[in-house]
Amino acid sequence: MSCPAVVIELLRHLDLGPGHRVLEIGTGTGYTTALLAQRTGAARLTTMEIDPGLARDAAARLRAADLAPCVVAGDGELGHPARAPYDRILCTAAVRSIPAAWLRQIRPGGIILRPFDTPFGYDELLKLTADHPAATGEPAAMVTFMKLRGQRPPRPYAELGRPAWTAWHPHRVTAGPSGQHIRQAAR
Ligand SMILES: C[S@@+](CC[C@H](N)C(=O)[O-])C[C@H]1O[C@@H](n2cnc3c(N)ncnc32)[C@H](O)[C@@H]1O
Repeated sequence: MSCPAVVIELLRHLDLGPGHRVLEIGTGTGYTTALLAQRTGAARLTTMEIDPGLARDAAARLRAADLAPCVVAGDGELGHPARAPYDRILCTAAVRSIPAAWLRQIRPGGIILRPFDTPFGYDELLKLTADHPAATGEPAAMVTFMKLRGQRPPRPYAELGRPAWTAWHPHRVTAGPSGQHIRQAAR
């Protein structure tokens, strides 16, 4: 389960309204899912968990709370095209590089919110706005999350397109079909 104070920070930046269609990656206990369902309506909510046991238990807990979002046991890096497009994609695990499926499944103008792995001992909560075929945005907060299962093996940070400058420079991240680009924002 994600730290509740951090979940509130995620939801604040997600800027979620009634009627939004949402894809959540990383169901875990189902706690964040329940809060999302209260705001947007369970019928418009899809949540994915790679661990089938966790997915099953979360679905049972949500049913017991009279909530019936679509709970998918599977790899969230593939998204869930059957219920796309989404107005919001929220990942509650850290991501090194944005899966291409998310860029295809987000609605133009939609928001992808994800903790972004950095070399600095924390993750950046990155809020990207979709402008097909890419999505661009800036860090909104510092957070710390476990990584997506498929993005855990150590890899050089240079591969992420991160320049050599240090953490405190304001920067802008663009994720698109040609990869991820990070550039220093104008001061
Ligand atoms: C920090 S926990 C999320 C906790 C959840 N938000 C809650 O409120 O209980 C991250 C979750 O992401 C799941 N996860 C990791 N990689 C995944 C992937 N590729 N697809 C879907 N879920 C994944 C983990 O199994 C874990 O349950």
